[in-house]
Amino acid sequence: MFLWGTATASYQIEGAVREDGRGPSIWDTFSHEPGRVRDGHTGDVACDHYHRWAEDVALMAGAGLNAYRFSIAWPRVLPSGYGAVNPAGLDFYDRLVDALHERGITPVPTLFHWDLPQALEDEGGWLSRDTAGRFADYAAVVAERLSDRVDMWITLNEPFVHMVFGYGLGMHAPGRTLFLDALPVAHHQLLGHGLAVQALRAAGARQVLVTNNCTPVWPASGSEEDRAAADAYDTLHNRLFNDPVLLGAYPDLSAYGIDGLDVVRPGDLETIAQPLDGLGVNYYNPTRIAGPGADGLPFRDAGITGYPTTAFGWPVVPEGLRELLEGLAARYGEALPPVYVTENGCSYEGIDDQERIAYLDGHIAAAERVEGVDLRGYFVWSLLDNFEWAEGYHQRFGLVHVDFETQRRTPKASYHWLRERIAARS
Ligand code: NOJ
Repeated sequence: MFLWGTATASYQIEGAVREDGRGPSIWDTFSHEPGRVRDGHTGDVACDHYHRWAEDVALMAGAGLNAYRFSIAWPRVLPSGYGAVNPAGLDFYDRLVDALHERGITPVPTLFHWDLPQALEDEGGWLSRDTAGRFADYAAVVAERLSDRVDMWITLNEPFVHMVFGYGLGMHAPGRTLFLDALPVAHHQLLGHGLAVQALRAAGARQVLVTNNCTPVWPASGSEEDRAAADAYDTLHNRLFNDPVLLGAYPDLSAYGIDGLDVVRPGDLETIAQPLDGLGVNYYNPTRIAGPGADGLPFRDAGITGYPTTAFGWPVVPEGLRELLEGLAARYGEALPPVYVTENGCSYEGIDDQERIAYLDGHIAAAERVEGVDLRGYFVWSLLDNFEWAEGYHQRFGLVHVDFETQRRTPKASYHWLRERIAARS
């Protein structure tokens, strides 16, 4: 069965940040620091999904969707990151999973979508190797409770973005500005992924994936300099996270003056390269790269012109999805497992969102033309307008409009269109 779903993440929709024993996450801390998030928005209430989940599940069913990718808030389950389990936190996801099954919707939980327990950040966060083991312990706790009803699990969401925005550039929690010194965060997340795969399988999980955000990289020109820059960027954004998982090796980082990651210990790559049942791919747009960049970086973003843009200013390039997926098949060959597009979507204002319809239609059509990839699912980001990280509530990605004063949900034109599109396809 092809999975047609929407995707969300705990901190972006749940709210109820101090309820039922949830501990603080790094996003609670960060969003409450002045100047971090646009207009001082926080996820304190968000879409109030913690209380309105039944209505939200009904909305998914109404759109004819058969899958739902959500994330589990680590600090709801383990308020201090490890140690005492908070049963009320697990109960919330237990109820959600049952409600999804009642509607014929396959639950696809992601275990880490950036809301690290603050207590773990206080011990070094993903800069610390210990966090990888803590993550696997948390994965086991969740899977022991849910694996009788959850078939498919995703370990991490977009470890590249969490490393670069969270630890490299400080635009996301935990707000560190370590630039390339953030690279251990890549390895520790990947190690956490590998250990979590083992823990999940031991607890009965049947299918395990990781979700990487990938981008086709276009050199700004045919010059040798721009092509080398594009290659360097591709290494950092795509290969640094796909290669260890699929090939069991890190790519060559010499373009960054780095001769191997010194945090890698013997055996780590074997742990990271556990066989997977699928690769989750989040696609938004290609990236156009020229060289060299500032601060000793071997690349700079040259920007893309000549395409329509979303309200976020992101270029709309549906063919980029096909290029990306076929590029993964070309690079990884037999090592590429089935692929799921675990996020694709756009930010636009308005309820009569014809631009979103055009965006989704173009991307689904491009996915349908992909050759040589075992594509098994497509998830729209997102079900609801929600807390878009550093942009607060200013970017609206939902198929369903949310009035953040009243919490009223109003399906947009794209919601109704998607139901017809799925029905026609089925
Ligand atoms: C990727 C992230 O996983 C998600 O949290 C975010 O809201 C969307 N992209 C849109 O930026």
